[in-house]
Amino acid sequence: MRRDHIHQFFLTGLLADMACSQSCPDYSSYSKARHEPFSAGKYALSYQRPDPACRTFNSSAVEALLTNMTDAITDPDLYRLFQNTFPNTLDTAIRWRGHAANNSAEELAFIITGDIDAMWLRDSANQLQSYMSLLEPDPAQAAKPDSIASLYRGVINLQARYLLTAPFCNSFQPPPESGIPPAKNGAASSDQVFPPYSPDAVFECKYELDSLAAFLQLSTSYYESTHDISFFGTFQWLPAVQAILATAKAMTRGTYDPQNGTVLPSPYTFTRQTTRSTETLANDGLGSPVRGEVGLVRSAFRPSDDAALFPFLIPANMMFVRYLAGAALIVRELGEKAPRGLAEEMLGFEASVREAIEKYGVVPVMSVDYESGGDNGSAAAVVETVYAYEVDGYGAAAVMDDANVPSLLAAPLFGYLANTNEVYQRTRKRILSDRGNPYFMKGSVLNSVGGPHAGPGMAWPMASIVRILTSDDDDEIVSVLKEILSSTDGLGLIHESVNSSNASQWTRQWFSWANGLFGEMILDLRLRKPHLLQRSYQ
Ligand SMILES: *[C@@H]1O[C@H](CO)[C@@H](O)[C@H](O)[C@H]1NC(C)=O
Ligand SMILES: *[C@@H]1O[C@H](CO)[C@@H](O)[C@H](O)[C@H]1NC(C)=O
Ligand SMILES: *[C@@H]1O[C@H](CO)[C@@H](O)[C@H](O)[C@H]1NC(C)=O
Ligand SMILES: *[C@@H]1O[C@H](CO)[C@@H](O)[C@H](O)[C@H]1NC(C)=O
Ligand SMILES: *[C@@H]1O[C@H](CO)[C@@H](O)[C@H](O)[C@H]1NC(C)=O
Ligand SMILES: *[C@@H]1O[C@H](CO)[C@@H](O)[C@H](O)[C@H]1NC(C)=O
Ligand SMILES: *[C@@H]1O[C@H](CO)[C@@H](O)[C@H](O)[C@H]1NC(C)=O
Repeated sequence: MRRDHIHQFFLTGLLADMACSQSCPDYSSYSKARHEPFSAGKYALSYQRPDPACRTFNSSAVEALLTNMTDAITDPDLYRLFQNTFPNTLDTAIRWRGHAANNSAEELAFIITGDIDAMWLRDSANQLQSYMSLLEPDPAQAAKPDSIASLYRGVINLQARYLLTAPFCNSFQPPPESGIPPAKNGAASSDQVFPPYSPDAVFECKYELDSLAAFLQLSTSYYESTHDISFFGTFQWLPAVQAILATAKAMTRGTYDPQNGTVLPSPYTFTRQTTRSTETLANDGLGSPVRGEVGLVRSAFRPSDDAALFPFLIPANMMFVRYLAGAALIVRELGEKAPRGLAEEMLGFEASVREAIEKYGVVPVMSVDYESGGDNGSAAAVVETVYAYEVDGYGAAAVMDDANVPSLLAAPLFGYLANTNEVYQRTRKRILSDRGNPYFMKGSVLNSVGGPHAGPGMAWPMASIVRILTSDDDDEIVSVLKEILSSTDGLGLIHESVNSSNASQWTRQWFSWANGLFGEMILDLRLRKPHLLQRSYQ
C-alpha cells in the first residue's frame, strides 16, 4: 500500500502510517499472489489479509466475529474464504477519513472500489452494506470514531456532497480535504456529457439510477440500525434527497413531446469514442427512445457501467422504489426539520413507479420446458409472464439478467418482493437457465449469470452469491457454494468474473464489493441455515 493510502485523524494512526509506508505492498499486486499459510482443505487457499499495520481500518467487532466463526464454519477452505473476504473493504479500501473543511463535525469517508483512487456511489454503499449487522445500536458506541457507524456517516456525508455536485454521475474524485490528487480517467477523456462536470470532482459520469438508490439504501440501513435521526437533519442529507428526487423525476420524461412529436431536450446525454457499443449511448447520446408518461425512471447505464439496451431498467426501478420508501420514513421522522410535503412527495412517487414496474415491467414470453430442453413454441405457443430486465414503454423488452446488483435475481435481497412471489419464481427459473437467459454461463467450473461487461463465457461469482442469498433450497445452496469455493484460482478472494470452464482465467483480483457480499452471505447462512456451514465442501 502506498504511503498516501492510509490517512487517519489520530497521531497514532499517522505514526503507524509512516512506519508502514516502506513495507506495505500495493494490494493490487499482493492480491494476485498466494501467501502462506494456505488453508488445510483441498483448495489450499491463500491467506490474503494484509499485515495488521497495513490495514486501512481496524474494527474489534469484525475481529471478534472472525474468531467466532471458526466454530460456526467447519470446512477449512470455506472458513479461509470468509476470513479473507469479509474484512476486505476495511482491510484495503478505506482510502481516507477526515472532516469537512467548513464543518469539523461533518465526518467524511472516501472508499475506493479496489485499485482505482475513485469512489463509486454504488460500490461504496454496497461495501458498507456488508457490515450492516455490525452497526452499533448503542449511541455512545456509534459516536466513536472507530465505529462502523462512523464509516457509514462518513460515506453518507461524502455521497451527499457528490450528489449535490453532479447528480447524474456515478464515480467521484477524492474530496479536496484529503489532499489526494484527482485520479486521471483516460477512458473518459473523449466523453461528451450533458450536463457538463469538472474532472476535479468527478471520475466518471455515467447516469445510473441504482447509484441514486444506493444512497437511499445506505441511509435507510443506517437509520434502521441506529435510529440516529438527528444525523439526517444536520448536514447535507435533505438537500441530497431533494436532488435525487428531482433527477429521477426528470428522467421519467419520454423522448418525444406527446402533443406534437417534437424531440424533447434530454436532461442527460453521453457519448464516448470507443470500440465497445456498451461504452456509449445510441442516438448521439440520448439512448434508445422511451415512451414518456409511463411512470418508469430511465437509467442510461446499468450497474455494470454498461449502456442499457432499453432505458427503463427494471431492477434499478425496483431498488429505487424500495429505498425511496425507506428514506421517506426518515424524512417523516425528521418532522419540522424537513421541507413540508417532502415525505408525501417521495411516497407518491414510490407508488407510481411501483405501479409502472408491475404494468410495463412484466412481459409475456414463450415458455421453456426446462426439463426436456424444448421450447413450447410453434403452433400452440404457451406464454408465461416474467419480469423483463429492461423495457422501453413501447413493447420492446430485454428478457435477460446481468450479474451486477441490482439484478432481477436480487429483487428479494433488496426487499422489493418476497422470493416466493410467482412472477419472481418464473423469472428466476428463466434467468438461471442457459435456455432462458442469453447471459447465463454454463461450464465445468462455475454456472452463473454473467453480462456484457466481461463478456460471453465469463460467469460472475457475485450472481452465484446472490443466488444463495435468495434461495431456501439446501441442495441448491450447497452446490452453488461448492462452485464458488472451487473458482478462486487458489487466491481465496472473489473475482469479478471467472471463465465458466477454467478457474485460472478471471478478471479483477481486488473487487471489494464482491468480497463483502460473500461475507454477508455467510453471515446470512449462519442465521438461516447454520447446518450448511457445519458440513464439508471438499
Ligand atoms: C490497525 O492496527 C494496527 C496494529 O494492530 C496498526 O499498526 C495500524 O496502524 C492500525 N490501522 C489503522 C488504520 O489505524
Ligand atoms: C461471539 O459468540 C458469542 C457466544 O456465542 C456471542 O455472545 C457473541 O455475541 C459473538 N460475537 C460476535 C461478534 O458475533
Ligand atoms: C460546506 O461546503 C460544501 C461544499 O463543499 C457546501 O455544499 C456546504 O453548504 C458548506 N457548508 C457550510 C456549513 O458552509
Ligand atoms: C410542441 O408542444 C409543446 C407543448 O406541449 C411546445 O412547448 C412546443 O413549442 C411545441 N413544438 C412545436 C415545434 O410546435
Ligand atoms: C411444454 O411442453 C412439454 C412437453 O413437450 C410439457 O410437458 C410442458 O407441460 C409444457 N409446458 C407448458 C408451460 O405448457
Ligand atoms: C475459457 O477457457 C476455455 C478453456 O481454457 C477456453 O477454451 C475458452 O476460450 C475460454 N473462454 C473465454 C471466454 O475466454
Ligand atoms: C486455463 O487457462 C490457463 C491460463 O490461461 C491456461 O494456461 C490453461 O491451459 C487453461 N486450461 C485449459 C484446460 O484449457
